[in-house]
Amino acid sequence: MQKPFVELYRPQTLSEVVGNQQTVERLKYFVDNGNLPNILFSSPPGMGKTTIAHCLGRQMLADQFKQAFIELNASDERNISDIRERVRTFAQLQVTLPVGRHKIVFLDECDAMTSQAQLALRRIMEDCGDSTRFILACNIVSKVVEPLQSRCCVITLQPPSVEDIITRLRQICEKASIKAGPEALRLLADLADGDVRNAVNNLQTASLALQKQLTEAGIRDVLDFIDVNQVGKIYSAAKTRFDEGHSQLQKLFIEGYSADEIVAAFYRFGMNPKTVMTDQTRAKFLKAVAQCHARLAGGINSELQVARMLVEATE
Ligand SMILES: Nc1ncnc2c1ncn2[C@@H]1O[C@H](COP(=O)(O)OP(=O)(O)O)[C@@H](O)[C@H]1O
Ligand SMILES: [Mg+2]
Repeated sequence: MQKPFVELYRPQTLSEVVGNQQTVERLKYFVDNGNLPNILFSSPPGMGKTTIAHCLGRQMLADQFKQAFIELNASDERNISDIRERVRTFAQLQVTLPVGRHKIVFLDECDAMTSQAQLALRRIMEDCGDSTRFILACNIVSKVVEPLQSRCCVITLQPPSVEDIITRLRQICEKASIKAGPEALRLLADLADGDVRNAVNNLQTASLALQKQLTEAGIRDVLDFIDVNQVGKIYSAAKTRFDEGHSQLQKLFIEGYSADEIVAAFYRFGMNPKTVMTDQTRAKFLKAVAQCHARLAGGINSELQVARMLVEATE
């Protein structure tokens, strides 16, 4: 069994992290000068929170990384008293570090903790502040209680651009001796929608199936995703006869695609430079897609919302 690329090619230093260059530069400052503040990273999955926390720890603590860095995953730890115990023991541990360096507790997915546990965590942070710094990570910053946020430097990671993702995929291809044309990498990066983990996973799937020779057409064959041309057909059908477009749309559900996947395909169609639309039509189209995306993200995951998107996009 091949190890997952996301593990095998996880960036080891901040220089390998793509996107968010200003943030990364700021973090390198702490690597060089020490005095790391408590940090709360926030972003949707797959943009590098866990990776950056590890790189930061490894680079700041160098040889002492093993003794001076612990990682706790809030969604694995059963309750706050377990976390308190582990952090206390760790904070009391004697590790000799250069001036300006501190032991680091990395607490991943802290938005999975209850508000009470988060408030308790704030106390723990205060009690251990002399010897220990905290790096927290969350997907949704509004799920982190304000008193905890206010004790951290909150860093919101932006989705890496398509170009950034291509850069990372190209580096991995080099290391893994994969041959990939620029269109092939662009397609993988486009599909990822800012999620580097997704792009790297798809790179691995495609590379296995295509014996390390990636072409755009090959990837279309191997990966199961909705082609923008299919969206184009639904869109033009719906513009002349709504039922026709709608029944084609429903076919996608029958084929097993989720509402999220369909909306993502509509987004790719709307953003694709090859899609011919006036600026005004494109704006209306993307607005319909964005509103549907927001409703789905709010938990209303239904065919009806996607049908509404089609109505609004073709009005
Ligand atoms: N900004 C990035 N630069 C380079 N690789 C990345 C980046 N973000 C994610 N990755 C890749 O995706 C995988 C998952 O990233 P991770 O840091 O676990 O994301 P998160 O914690 O935000 O969900 C990593 O192993 C790495 O290979
Ligand atoms: Mg993570």
